[in-house]
Amino acid sequence: MNKCAIILAAGEGKRMKSNLPKVLHKVCGKEMINHVIDTISKAGIGSIDIVIGKNSEQVKKATEYKKVTYSMQHEQLGTGHAVMCAEEFLRGNSGMVAIFVGDGPLITEYMVEKLFEFHENGKYKATVITSFLNEPAKYGRIVRDINNEVKKIVEFKDCTEEERNINEINAGMYCFDIKCLLDNLNKLSNDNAQKEYYLTDVIEIFKKQGYKIGAFNVPFDIVTAVNSRNELASAEQIMRNRINNKHMENGVTIIDSSSTYIDSEVVIGKDTIIYPGNVIQGNTIIKNNCILYPNSRIKDSIIQHGVIIQNSVILDSYIGENTTVGPFAYVRPESNIGANARIGDFVEIKKSTIGDNTKVSHLTYIGDAEVGSGCNFGCGTVVVNYDGKKKHKTIVGKNAFIGCNTNLVSPVEVKDNSYIAAGSTITKEVPEGALAIARAKQVNINNWVEKKGLKKK
Ligand code: UD1
Ligand code: CA
Repeated sequence: MNKCAIILAAGEGKRMKSNLPKVLHKVCGKEMINHVIDTISKAGIGSIDIVIGKNSEQVKKATEYKKVTYSMQHEQLGTGHAVMCAEEFLRGNSGMVAIFVGDGPLITEYMVEKLFEFHENGKYKATVITSFLNEPAKYGRIVRDINNEVKKIVEFKDCTEEERNINEINAGMYCFDIKCLLDNLNKLSNDNAQKEYYLTDVIEIFKKQGYKIGAFNVPFDIVTAVNSRNELASAEQIMRNRINNKHMENGVTIIDSSSTYIDSEVVIGKDTIIYPGNVIQGNTIIKNNCILYPNSRIKDSIIQHGVIIQNSVILDSYIGENTTVGPFAYVRPESNIGANARIGDFVEIKKSTIGDNTKVSHLTYIGDAEVGSGCNFGCGTVVVNYDGKKKHKTIVGKNAFIGCNTNLVSPVEVKDNSYIAAGSTITKEVPEGALAIARAKQVNINNWVEKKGLKKK
């Protein structure tokens, strides 16, 4: 049977107390709505419609690269009304439709696949995803009849005392026969505590027509919805554990999973070891056999095999094989560091290329520069790339030796195999093989201290 899906995402999410639409809040670095879209797509569903409302432009923008369509719900009159707004989408599809919510980011591919299977094999007209909770809180309750079949869903606010004691809750996710759904949506009314058109009422409407209703029971952490910042943090924790477990299963050592923060799209090779306090974000790729000692932030970067990083920040950059970074290094966007290089303590690299085997060991700033292989930067070197108006480029060839406390005033070029004496301020090209000294000559005035009467007894 054909499959498609609708994601309800028009609600405002007032309880988040945010200017950002609820579904755009991130869990492990990705917007909740994008988690839902990606999971459904990976489960093989090609036709996905999102019901959007206020702030629809923001939601569209955040999902612009996804293969989805949109339906507008101009007024938020309830989940049933939201599905009515997707009528055109439903009429364009046949078979089964699954309905998910934009604030339920924890659904899994496996669950989505099984939901359709369960629905189809059971020949149900509607399937409700349910979960059992010791403290069912404000979730809608699943009311079953004497044959233990689903009879209806009652919203918390409309529950009787007895119904509130039911532990089986409505996860707010469903699968429907599209034709039956279309035939019955117009029967919904808003005669309830919240004066909303509840999608949940469709179940009782189906039941009364003798349609078969399924209940697909899943663990609660798959269907947890996010309505507040508190629940956002809980969802983050569940997702973080899942991500870390996946990497550990793939052969990554994570010393303390509870203090390791890895975004959902990050790729990590085997035998890499991750110490606590690391935050690995965006589309970062970390290859095999790396060691991430504590407390680094790495975002949208490629870290080659065997790299060792400690207490550093690396953004949108590339680090070559077996290079070491840190402690306390700052590699800023668009930097490209070669293999077997060393970026040491209190070194900042900005938008620069550093060749293989080059050592920038301590207290150095390199900005807008192209540095060749085999160079050595002495302690305290500064590339003076900014003249107050414009940024300029510095080029350093191969095997250059830059003495301590050198200033390279850009634009300037230091050719291959040259030396620069410590303390030089270089403003002109240094030719190949030359030694450049650009500092005042030392003068010694003998016995000066005694003559000045400054000698201590
Ligand atoms: C809903 C269910 C409840 C279930 C719970 C699970 C109904 C009536 N109730 O309640 O039984 O236990 O989910 O999380 O369905 N939305 C729209 N347009 C609207 C209203 C909501 O698109 O007019 C979207 C929201 O963006 C959200 C989803 O539908 O993604 C659920 O809406 P929400 O208001 O959070 O429903 P709950 O009260 O949590
Ligand atoms: Ca909700």
